[in-house]
Amino acid sequence: MAHRWRDTGLRYGLVTRLFHWSMAFLLCWQFSGLVLGRLFGRSWLTDALNGTHGSLGVTILIMAAVRALWGFYNLKDRPAHEHGLLGLAARAGHILLYLLMLAVPGMALLRAFGSEWGLTLYGLEIMAKGGERVDWMVAPARLLHGTLAWTLLTMIGGHIAMVIIHRFVWKDEVLSRMAGPSRNTGGVAAPAE
Ligand code: HEM
Ligand code: HEM
Repeated sequence: MAHRWRDTGLRYGLVTRLFHWSMAFLLCWQFSGLVLGRLFGRSWLTDALNGTHGSLGVTILIMAAVRALWGFYNLKDRPAHEHGLLGLAARAGHILLYLLMLAVPGMALLRAFGSEWGLTLYGLEIMAKGGERVDWMVAPARLLHGTLAWTLLTMIGGHIAMVIIHRFVWKDEVLSRMAGPSRNTGGVAAPAE
């Protein structure tokens, strides 16, 4: 019987895919408002997209943490990276994507807790304005939140470029194991080796 929910050596399962594609959507939402604002200035559209910046960011943080745990749990059963330098680069790239998905919102949240700005998430006031500023909590995000966020966007661009190369130049199965049929052909959930 095919276990559609778990990863196997041949393809990613439904849980991994759900995390992957829903977070791709949320990150696209998060960045589109920021990029449009940078390119064309502020408008009703950027206000609408950016109005959820903190709550959306915290949602991404929580999902990234649960996704990382799920990834560890499935590590032995995931499709293997290729041997050699390219596989190593893919693995390093994926780890870096995880670290940035955690660090970018994580340090922003720390800054919010340590600042006098107050914090409202999902429409609920978590902290009122006017508390005391804690310098060590504010410093990392002040220094790095924007820079690391743009680094994350660049990494995502590189990730998508590599998927396009896999699909159309090397014509291998990399895209289909994240987007193709979620059942193993033959109905056997056995790993590749
Ligand atoms: C928007 C942000 C995106 C992020 C942060 C992201 C992140 C990741 C990560 C961390 C992995 C490793 C598997 C995992 O742990 O889930 C992965 C795999 C994968 N992603 Fe994305 N991804 C994004 C968007 C996309 C898009 C738009 C595509 C398609 C064009 C795509 C195609 C794939 C494929 C095919 C794999 C499997 C790669 C393999 O088997 O080695 N991703 N992605
Ligand atoms: C994955 C989630 C997040 C991404 C991708 C992200 C991305 C960004 C980007 C690209 C900027 C603009 C930097 C610039 O102008 O160059 C920014 C600014 C900002 N973000 Fe986020 N952010 C995330 C999560 C959060 C969270 C959770 C909070 C608060 C709790 C937050 C609060 C802020 C604030 C206050 C600014 C303006 C000050 C600054 O540039 O550091 N962000 N964010």
